Amino acid sequence: MTQPKRQLHLGLFLFSTGYHPAGWRLPEAATDGAFDPKFLHRVAQRLEEAKFDFFFLGDALATSPDMQHTFPSQMVRLEPFTMIANIAAVTEKIGLIVTANTTYSEPYTIARQTASLDYLSGGRLAWNVVTGMDVRAAQNFSREKHWDNSKRYDYADEFVEIVQQLWDSWEDEAFVRNKESGEFVDGSKVHRINHEGEHFSVAGPLNVARPPQGQIPLLNAGTSERSRDLGAKLSSAVFSGQILLEVSKQFYAEIKSKAVAYGRNPDEVFILPGLVPLVGRTKEEAHDKYRELNSLLVTNYDVTPLSARIGIDLSGYPLDGPLPDLSLSVLPGDEVKWLVSLAQRAEGHEDITVRELFHYFAATSRGHLLIVGNPEEIADQMEEWFVERAADGFNICPPYMMGGIDLFIDLVVPILQRRGLFRSEYDADTFRGHFGLSRPENRFAKRAALQGVGE
Ligand SMILES: Cc1cc2nc3c(=O)[nH]c(=O)nc-3n(C[C@H](O)[C@H](O)[C@H](O)COP(=O)(O)O)c2cc1C
Repeated sequence: MTQPKRQLHLGLFLFSTGYHPAGWRLPEAATDGAFDPKFLHRVAQRLEEAKFDFFFLGDALATSPDMQHTFPSQMVRLEPFTMIANIAAVTEKIGLIVTANTTYSEPYTIARQTASLDYLSGGRLAWNVVTGMDVRAAQNFSREKHWDNSKRYDYADEFVEIVQQLWDSWEDEAFVRNKESGEFVDGSKVHRINHEGEHFSVAGPLNVARPPQGQIPLLNAGTSERSRDLGAKLSSAVFSGQILLEVSKQFYAEIKSKAVAYGRNPDEVFILPGLVPLVGRTKEEAHDKYRELNSLLVTNYDVTPLSARIGIDLSGYPLDGPLPDLSLSVLPGDEVKWLVSLAQRAEGHEDITVRELFHYFAATSRGHLLIVGNPEEIADQMEEWFVERAADGFNICPPYMMGGIDLFIDLVVPILQRRGLFRSEYDADTFRGHFGLSRPENRFAKRAALQGVGE
């Protein structure tokens, strides 16, 4: 059997005011999209026209207005399950990713909500498993403190295991629905899970039938060893925030080899770094837009975080003067040079100033790679990451809305399609299908079948 050709997977990581902190200030930008169903529908429907794999909404459980100049789109937003249910109703093919935090929820609740959304979307759901990075969430959920990494991931491991068992608690053939006999359900195909663990005791069964995808695909992101393990063991896709090709290649190789160590097929764990494509019809148009966005940043140009990032104290250098000699950096390796070279490419010239480096840093401080260029240049970089096995696809974070996504869809996607790197038509209509993942067998049915064979 010939292997299907490896192709890119593309999703949207929604930032309703754009990924660039000043995206919303552009004259043409939407400012209230986060709460406007028409805007959200338009975004999802555009993605579907472009044959994207998924629409993804992140989530946090705390906020404050001081994020307004650094991350305005993540300050306030709609609750993901509610929003994804609404998006499911106006789309047909595109995968939908909902974020749910294990630290502040219950497995039974999440199993119910995800299974329900998998039905409402016709099998298009995936769950982004997060344990929460905002310590303030504890204050919103009657906790004294946010747990440390190892407790959060211990809890998450047990949590996810329970959810997956609950999804299987009804076998696919459990519903008989025989009008003549009056038998609605075959009770032998409905299972209690009787979980008694360190953190949870859950009897089951779930009060939603097995979801259309059988097992809803999991995704996750993280930097710690524990989150990488979770991804390698359980996730169908792992999100990352890497701006350097070499670092992303290492991350890619590490997750794939860990997946093999867990007995999995490494081709069934997709590595999806974030990408902020600032597309112009021409190179000049892209660089002009980049400069326009940066001119709208609200900042006091405090260089302390940037100094830490590059290992050189920038406080004595004039903002509009040249960069210091990079060999002064106290940091090991070449990362600083790579960061500066990304900023140079974004500006479109080599002799960048401290202010210009600050702009690139401010625009990418949330961890995703920002590239500025004409459509061919953007497609080339995506192809390079894909071919070099630094990525299996990208979590696209448009720098501003709607233009940032419209230009990407209108100008870059067709190039990727022409190069055979991205689909021109959907050949599936479930999340699993878009990623070529088969529907898993039900663990209880499998066990029963094995017992039957042994008898
Ligand atoms: C692309 C991407 C998306 C993320 N989305 C969320 C999110 O929606 N909610 C959240 O609490 N954390 C989110 N995170 C944070 C991670 O889940 C993770 O907690 C963080 O990277 C810290 O790593 P650790 O959990 O290994 O300590 C995201 C991270 C990345 C790279």
